[in-house]
Amino acid sequence: MSGRSDQTVSFTQMKDGTRDEYLMLRELEKPYQAMTADRILRELRGQADESLAGYRITRLEHGLQAATRAEADDADIDWVVAALLHDIGDGLAPQNHDRFAAEILRPFMREEVTWVVEHHGIFQMHYYGHHYGWDRDERDKHADNPFYQTCADFCERWDQSSFDPDYPMQPLEHFEDRVREVFARKAYDPAVIRAGEVVGLPPAKA
Ligand SMILES: [Fe+2]
Ligand SMILES: [Fe+2]
Repeated sequence: MSGRSDQTVSFTQMKDGTRDEYLMLRELEKPYQAMTADRILRELRGQADESLAGYRITRLEHGLQAATRAEADDADIDWVVAALLHDIGDGLAPQNHDRFAAEILRPFMREEVTWVVEHHGIFQMHYYGHHYGWDRDERDKHADNPFYQTCADFCERWDQSSFDPDYPMQPLEHFEDRVREVFARKAYDPAVIRAGEVVGLPPAKA
C-alpha cells in the first residue's frame, strides 16, 4: 500500500486545513490503521537478518522461541503475541526497547501484559547484571507492584530461556493470525485492557 490516494488536501500547513479535509483524512486513516498488523509482521521479518552479534540465534528467532514456549504452556493469545513482540524495539530503540514494544501493545492488550513487556528489560537484568557489576535485583524497586511476579515469571520461563538454537520453534506464519486478531481489536477497549487485573502466567507444562 503506497499511502497515496486520489484524494489529497490542498494545504501545506496543517493550520490551513478545512473541516472537510480533516474529515477526509480521518476516513483515509482507517484503512491505514487496519494495516498495523502487516507493518508489525514486516518489522519482525526484518529481524531475521539482525542477529545481535554474539548470540546464537537472530532476534526474530528469539521472539519466535518465546512465543512458542508461551503457546506450549497453553498461554492465551495476549501472552503469545506479547512474547512474540516483546523485543520488536531492539532495532529502533535499543536503549529503551522494552518501553517501545509496550507502546505498540498498550491499546490492544490487557494492562498486565503491557506492564510486563514495558518492564522486562530491568527484570532480565536479574540474569546477567552482576557480570557487569550492576545491581541484578534492581527489579525489586517494583516489588510492590501487583504485576511484579508475572513479569518475573515471564522472564524466567519465556524470555531468558529463549536463546536456544536447538529449540523447535514455530515459524512466524504460525502466529500471524493471532497478531492480526490482536491489532484488529478496538483500541483501549476497557474489556480488553482489564485495568488492574492480575491473571499471571498459566502453570508451566513439563
Ligand atoms: Fe528485551
Ligand atoms: Fe527477549
